[in-house]
Amino acid sequence: MKLSTDIPGPIGIFDSGYGGLTILRRIRAALPQYDYIYLGDNARTPYGTRSFEVVYEFTRQAVVALFEQGCQLVILACNTASAKALRSIQTNDLPRIAPNRRVLGVIRPTVECIGSITRSRHVGVLATSGTIRSESYPLEIHKLFPEMVVTGQACPLWVPLVECQEADSDGADYFVRKYIDELLTRDPQIDAVILGCTHYPLLWNKIRSYMPPSVALVAQGDWVADSLRDYLHRHPEMEIRCTRGGGCSYYTTEATEKFAESAALFLNESVDVQRMMLD
Ligand code: DGL
Repeated sequence: MKLSTDIPGPIGIFDSGYGGLTILRRIRAALPQYDYIYLGDNARTPYGTRSFEVVYEFTRQAVVALFEQGCQLVILACNTASAKALRSIQTNDLPRIAPNRRVLGVIRPTVECIGSITRSRHVGVLATSGTIRSESYPLEIHKLFPEMVVTGQACPLWVPLVECQEADSDGADYFVRKYIDELLTRDPQIDAVILGCTHYPLLWNKIRSYMPPSVALVAQGDWVADSLRDYLHRHPEMEIRCTRGGGCSYYTTEATEKFAESAALFLNESVDVQRMMLD
């Protein structure tokens, strides 16, 4: 298959589930003029515990589906997909199927900001098991800041808490505290912690309450939005292929009613959702 048309289209935002809505929200606040399509692979979430091969294959399918919807530019609003699939899609798939289209991730923009936030140069990363195992954060951080000490902590139960709408429940406290304590025990000098999963801002209040006040928390949404603005500015050839209508359509691979209900909670607005099958 080759997708060769350059007809302008919406910007695609992809996540394994609801987490990418935290990124979409910040992007739309910063760049309201463009059209967007959000796709959540809720039927196959979570990605965080899956192998490289599976995350790559699922993500590749989602990117192709968004291209088929007319997107010229797709943001992987998922750290796990950015860590495990982005590079392969950029180097192996794009040149073959859509050489003029682009796929961007969320790890690089987050890493760029950390230099101005930490003073101790000891940084923590909270993320899914897959993102931590991929070592993407230490690798990217050390490219820019070789002196930094980076400690990653997998938080395997946080995505299920969010996906099951238990983020505000009393039961969530135990697991929020557990992973924070483990991280800070491993390196007590940490003074900045990256929330390296797009689902985690939905646990913000609990994470903040168990994190010492001296530790800065870094959520990704605004950094990714700034980086996208900068990218479109530097790439006018792509900017003119992003339609400007201020609209957003929502797709899920699971039941549309459930997505609409949860998305309304995350976005504070009701949304129309359509089903999309990936293969
Ligand atoms: N939201 C995704 C991320 O940023 C992962 C969630 C999942 O495990 O599917 O890593």
